[in-house]
Amino acid sequence: MSEISVIAGTSSGELAKKIARKLRAKLVKARTIAFPDGESKITLDKIPSNKKIVVVQSICPPVDTNLVHALSLIAKAKDMARHVTVVIPYMGYARQDREFLQGEIVTAKVLAKLIIAAGASEIIIVDIHSKIGLEHFEIKTTHVTAMPELVKYFKKMNLKNALVVSPDQGGEERAKIFANNLETNYIALEKNRDRKTGKVNIKTKDAKVRNMNIILVDDMISTGGSIIEAAKFLKKGGCAKIFATCTHGLLIGDAEKKITMAGIAEIVSTNTIPGNGIRVDVSGAIAKMIN
Ligand code: R5P
Repeated sequence: MSEISVIAGTSSGELAKKIARKLRAKLVKARTIAFPDGESKITLDKIPSNKKIVVVQSICPPVDTNLVHALSLIAKAKDMARHVTVVIPYMGYARQDREFLQGEIVTAKVLAKLIIAAGASEIIIVDIHSKIGLEHFEIKTTHVTAMPELVKYFKKMNLKNALVVSPDQGGEERAKIFANNLETNYIALEKNRDRKTGKVNIKTKDAKVRNMNIILVDDMISTGGSIIEAAKFLKKGGCAKIFATCTHGLLIGDAEKKITMAGIAEIVSTNTIPGNGIRVDVSGAIAKMIN
């Protein structure tokens, strides 16, 4: 048994268990009670080691509750250990990493300040929406990408005529890494999102996708709007099958149903967020980054 304790946050129980097993570390579970007014009471089921503590908590829905749980667990860990490694498998609020419209608050920066103030010594984040989000942390930050793990899943499929597609220009680098690993080609569509309504449309006019088996790659699928619009465009171009893959399968509300109705054959996501569509485990990639 190592001298590391892994505290499993309320949103990351299964993933934390896998990380702890890989590190041969003690697993500490956080139990919560929700009071009628919405407040949480959080209790650790055992006392962690005082050498090094790793807190694992995704800031996924219910986002604000999970954020308060994360901050509380980090603060408690800091009371007990000198070094606290904070693993945020999914970093909510990371899309608001700059002031797109005047007056908007850069929430990603606020979160970074809160996490550091709570007691984080270093941060490990999996596939953050954009690298700009990482710059808000003024402590050691390690970025882990799940793309090689997702590629392994698709390699086993042995798809003929595969084409990797990013639904937007911001994801081009991600699509490139994915395509290089899969030894195939990629394109990035041009997407427009109305910053006030959130509505998405594809601006690309033409793409050579006829008879290609498409793998749509994104960092996250939330409402499914982005990949559904991309799928409509690709189908018009005469593509063959469409698969959708992402690191963070938020799949809000009936997103999964809408994606299936849009003719997407399979959603392949990782276990950074508990829920549906999980095909790939990122615990190994995270554990490798913890000393
Ligand atoms: C945006 O740029 C992100 O990379 C995702 O494409 C987006 O957040 C997915 O959200 P939704 O599924 O609601 O379109």
